[in-house]
Amino acid sequence: MKLLVTGGAGFMGSNFIHYILKKYPDYEIINLDKLTYAGNLKNLTDVENNPRYKFIKGDIADPNIVNELVPKADAVINYAAETHVDRSIFDPREFAQTDVIGTLTILNAIRENDNNIKLIQISTDEVFGSIDSGKFTESSPFEPNSPYAASKAGGDLMCRAFWATYKTPVIVTHSCNFYGPNHYPEKLIPLVITNLLEGKKVPVYGDGRQVREWIYTEDHCSAVDVILHKGKEGEIYNIGTERELENLDTIKTILNVLGMDDNYIEFVKDRPAHDRRYSLDTSKLRNELGWSPQVEFEDGIKRTVDWFKNNESWWKEIKSGEYQKYYEKQYGAKD
Ligand code: NAD
Ligand code: TYD
Repeated sequence: MKLLVTGGAGFMGSNFIHYILKKYPDYEIINLDKLTYAGNLKNLTDVENNPRYKFIKGDIADPNIVNELVPKADAVINYAAETHVDRSIFDPREFAQTDVIGTLTILNAIRENDNNIKLIQISTDEVFGSIDSGKFTESSPFEPNSPYAASKAGGDLMCRAFWATYKTPVIVTHSCNFYGPNHYPEKLIPLVITNLLEGKKVPVYGDGRQVREWIYTEDHCSAVDVILHKGKEGEIYNIGTERELENLDTIKTILNVLGMDDNYIEFVKDRPAHDRRYSLDTSKLRNELGWSPQVEFEDGIKRTVDWFKNNESWWKEIKSGEYQKYYEKQYGAKD
């Protein structure tokens, strides 16, 4: 297969590229990435000379480059997005541009090119909003609460409309939170690990009792692999572990791995419209496609902490750049 992976220089996209090149010795990948602050070619140095891999710098919302690349692929895996809720609260426009218009641009390129290239849309449980009890199924209504979630919902609805209107072969995935190697250190788990490795406190929004489900990189890659090869066109699949954790428990697991105590926890002002709980029913993916996650949270956290310990220059370089301005804007005001 020839795959067009968008956003492949980011966290999960780069993990997926490694996973596919290793698992399928005859697959070829083109990686289209705009290299925003979250894109980092250092995530891909070990494959940059692989003849089955090619990087192209470009924007998924630019029809010229997208129309040129889409026909070269058998399938597009759309990881490219603006992804951070807190940044979407500061500046929502870029989120709609990439997450909605970018997705539309890919769909349109497929439609205009025989309409037979498969699109796997990588999306999030956040489109469903917050749920106090029970679980979101694939047919739960969209009730997004952040500009990020609303933008992802817009892209996903465009996928739905293209399937309904043109039978464009698209599959939408809604996943719980990811964690693992290459995770940009503005999201909770890598922020906590790197702050603690630097001996700094970790900022906890509100009471820290918000509930999230976390999936390790390898498990998310294997889910997308199964969906790409066995998923039904026009369908939606939830991806998750069904293991729920309050943020404070997630943080305490990391403190424990590092042998540090709760004094490093610092409660700060809550995020506006902070979703209290996400919870996904993943029985469709498990029962129909035979997928299940393999990495227990405690094991995944140990592996992730080890990765950050062994790749200090990777995250120190990020944290010394534009990141500092962001950190000050986000957390300076909360102290
Ligand atoms: P990330 O922020 O680490 O990386 C995003 C990548 O997309 C970067 O390399 C960036 O340069 C690129 N990009 C941004 N705008 C672009 C554009 N206009 N054109 C081309 N490239 C562009 O993201 P991530 O955390 O790896 O998330 C990947 C995908 O998974 C996203 O679609 C996200 O919505 C979805 N998702 C993420 C999570 C999570 O916990 N991180 C959970 C569920 C779903
Ligand atoms: P995050 O990693 O930003 O993912 P999302 O908001 O997409 O779920 O945040 C995970 C949870 O951690 C979320 O409830 C917000 C919380 N959080 C903090 O308490 N402090 C922080 O500094 C960050 C970044 C997140």
